[in-house]
Amino acid sequence: MQIVTRIDEVKNLVRQLRRQGKTIGLVPTMGYLHEGHLTLMRWAKAEQDVVVATIFVNPLQFGPNEDFAVYPRDLDRDSKLAAAAGVDVLFAPPVEEMYPQGYENMLAFVDVRKITERLCGASRPGHFRGVATVVTKLFNIVEPDVAYFGQKDAQQVVVIRTMVRDLNMNVRIVTVPIVREPDGLAMSSRNVYLAPAERQAALVLSRALKLAKEKLDAGERSAAALIAAMRELIDREPLATIDYISVSDAATLEELDTVRAPALVALAVKIGRTRLIDNLLWEEKQHVSHAF
Ligand code: PAF
Repeated sequence: MQIVTRIDEVKNLVRQLRRQGKTIGLVPTMGYLHEGHLTLMRWAKAEQDVVVATIFVNPLQFGPNEDFAVYPRDLDRDSKLAAAAGVDVLFAPPVEEMYPQGYENMLAFVDVRKITERLCGASRPGHFRGVATVVTKLFNIVEPDVAYFGQKDAQQVVVIRTMVRDLNMNVRIVTVPIVREPDGLAMSSRNVYLAPAERQAALVLSRALKLAKEKLDAGERSAAALIAAMRELIDREPLATIDYISVSDAATLEELDTVRAPALVALAVKIGRTRLIDNLLWEEKQHVSHAF
């Protein structure tokens, strides 16, 4: 695996590989890799000749009071894990390489409207503009055939798919199912922030989704009833504070009154100071993301 930090280096490398007729898969990450990221990498490796993974903690997608400065970083550990997962090229640029003019001085952005204002967008203004902009930059730098994203960030996937569709971007998006710890907690780099009691409390997210699935399986179709049941379960956990619980159309993220597939049941909950997200996709045949 080659580790590169400069944009011209990664561009040249990928161009050479493409000239040899190789297909390129891109796995964008912010590092501190866990099994969820490694699954994306292995998935990409199974489908493409070459896998380019990126590690870049993107300041543009963090709010002023968020965790950019303390976001976990460990390039040594990440490079070993990425190499073992089959990554061929690891692109890990410093902030000055991606934003030479300073990210605060950026003048051009990619803005996806409406769907970025709901769910996480409501409490993280500007977050999805930062995501859409950096993902566009990575697409322009690497020019992948296919890019891989985790269903854990369900809204991010909808935003990126919409951006690619509306702007005719020349890349196919593949979504990979959520990877969970054995007890149900969705894998996230932010799980390292959780103290032992919080780690236990964090199970309320997957438990609430499990409850929603049971109710859907039993025929419940009222979004309000699902949300009320999930809220009640989470409110019983003293360390948990709900940011949102949403039942929406999986493509538009518009809130539903009556659940119809494909629907996204999504939630964001603060456990202590750590904000966690999780979701389940309710699909046509009523099987849900491999979660439970
Ligand atoms: O999902 C993430 O880790 C980030 O939002 C992404 C897609 C790498 C953009 O910074």
